[in-house]
Amino acid sequence: MTEQEHAVEFEHKHPIDRDCTTLPRHVLQQLQSYSPEAQDLSALMNRIALAAKLIARRLTRAGLMEDTLGFTGRTNVQGEAVKKMDLYANQVFISAFEQSGLVCRLASEEMEEPYYIPENCPVGRYTLLYDPIDGSSNLDVNINVGSIFAIRRQEGEDLDGTAQDLLQENGRRQIAAGYILYGPSTMLVYSIGTGVHAFTLDPSLGEFILSHENVRTPDHGPVYSVNEGNFWQWDESIREYTRYVHRHEGYTARYGGALVGDFHRILFQGGVFLYPGTVKKPEGKLRLLYESAPLAYLMEQAGGRASTGAQEILDVVPDKLHMRTPLIIGSKDDVALVESFIHEQERKTLAEVGKP
Ligand code: AHG
Ligand code: MN
Ligand code: MN
Repeated sequence: MTEQEHAVEFEHKHPIDRDCTTLPRHVLQQLQSYSPEAQDLSALMNRIALAAKLIARRLTRAGLMEDTLGFTGRTNVQGEAVKKMDLYANQVFISAFEQSGLVCRLASEEMEEPYYIPENCPVGRYTLLYDPIDGSSNLDVNINVGSIFAIRRQEGEDLDGTAQDLLQENGRRQIAAGYILYGPSTMLVYSIGTGVHAFTLDPSLGEFILSHENVRTPDHGPVYSVNEGNFWQWDESIREYTRYVHRHEGYTARYGGALVGDFHRILFQGGVFLYPGTVKKPEGKLRLLYESAPLAYLMEQAGGRASTGAQEILDVVPDKLHMRTPLIIGSKDDVALVESFIHEQERKTLAEVGKP
């Protein structure tokens, strides 16, 4: 073959190869295996992709459809008003895993107790934890929202059907985690412990196609992302941190009201997202099992960090299914900077206590 023929073949093959890298294929490539476990993970990700496409389809036309936007009139276990899309998306994930033989239990923000799929339970040894719609307040104004998920192996037999094993393990027991961002494009970002990879939904194919492989978060970035309307409710250490970034060149604020969108920017470009404790919510707002821990898993895989201010997020063992934790997540150096203000405050408080 002549050099020119080689060049023509490469030109043709390369984009085709890229277009053929779908999510289930990528999982098998990453694991370099066709073992039963690799096949399971590939099938799991394929079902999550189906749920994502169904939710994306509904969101795309939400303003034109009856009974899609607005509230249901109910509140969830956290006392938050439930929207119609929250319930729709919650049900989509359940339906996507029915008769899959993969997932026996699902736990979500919208369900007080874990939900069991009985026909899967004899064989399905995986549990799906998820936030079906993250950033629900953005729905009615057509701004980005997301979904967050994590997959864990069921530990033990769960004979009493209360999923107690979920409350004995920290976030390092997650075997996969990711999110879907419903933005200008729909993107699915995931990790199975081999780095972070992003897929973009090609609506003409109805497939998620690999668009960014091995995403790395810079050690420092200019963005700080926090709801500064809560300033009056924060601990002095977080106020000191925000005063610091206000007074130094090189910082810029971005806050979209949906964790997935804010996190996505920081994952790709660096910086830090914070949801610290407040007077009204001393543990912060975000839930460990299906918000903070999956995103912490991704951030560590991309070279960043996630902390409560006192502990790494992935080391926290939950004491209840819907447990909340403060969250500081992003570039290594920026998380460390926030922590330095927390440690300084602790030192001052100890010195105060020590005074005669
Ligand atoms: P959800 O819609 O799943 O309840 O999550 C909302 C979360 C998160 O997406 C966002 O970062 C945060 O709430 C925003 O909270 P504030 O409005 O208090 O800033
Ligand atoms: Mn959420
Ligand atoms: Mn939600």
